[in-house]
Amino acid sequence: MVSKSYYDDLDALSDRICEVLIETVKKNRRAAICFATGSSPLLGYRKFVKEVIDNNIDVSGITIIKLDEWCGLDMTNTATCEHFLQQEIIKPLAIRKIKYISFNSKAVDFEEECEKIKSKIEALPCIDLTILGIGKNGHIGLNEPGEFVVPEIHVTDLDAKTKTHSMLYNTSNVSKGITIGFKDILSSKKILFIVTGPEKRIAYEQFLSLNVTTQNPSTFLKLHNNVECIVDNNIS
Ligand code: PGA
Repeated sequence: MVSKSYYDDLDALSDRICEVLIETVKKNRRAAICFATGSSPLLGYRKFVKEVIDNNIDVSGITIIKLDEWCGLDMTNTATCEHFLQQEIIKPLAIRKIKYISFNSKAVDFEEECEKIKSKIEALPCIDLTILGIGKNGHIGLNEPGEFVVPEIHVTDLDAKTKTHSMLYNTSNVSKGITIGFKDILSSKKILFIVTGPEKRIAYEQFLSLNVTTQNPSTFLKLHNNVECIVDNNIS
């Protein structure tokens, strides 16, 4: 089941992101949370970090999972999902290395990297919350539109629209990504699905109107029974 709520602005929507995160870490001090990166969740993450620090909330037991990554960039490159999560979540909350599951953007062998992350996720009791944005092309994580979706963690060829993602503005030759697949996404107890930005309108309209289709991977979220979809009214 997908519940939908509409917000007048990004600030109000980001308050909800913060609230869901706080609820999750208070309910289960050992929660595992899968984090998308990008502009959609950013303000919500900043509010969450402030709330945790201001109120001294214990997050030492939580596990953070990085949803996806661009392949081939140095881990310190400011365009990586790694850099984003380090700056916004890992460092400010002093998350220990053992509590952080993260693809290496510069892995020598990406198939091996997929297996490594797979076994780490399998060792968790569950994923309590997954936070997702939507791509201009309807992708979720780096599960791109195409003939099929790959259920497992996998390496993917980036779609032409994804190559224009703002995180990649100052890079060249990034053509592949590594991503959690729908098997793990749909196993998450709850999914918070964030839709912001006018460039997402068409993908979101398809999400609303289409049945489940690999042409718009966000439609796979309709197979989950606990999706909270939060939408910034400014998309239309
Ligand atoms: P954005 O990215 O949150 O930066 O818009 C979402 C995505 O492309 O998946």
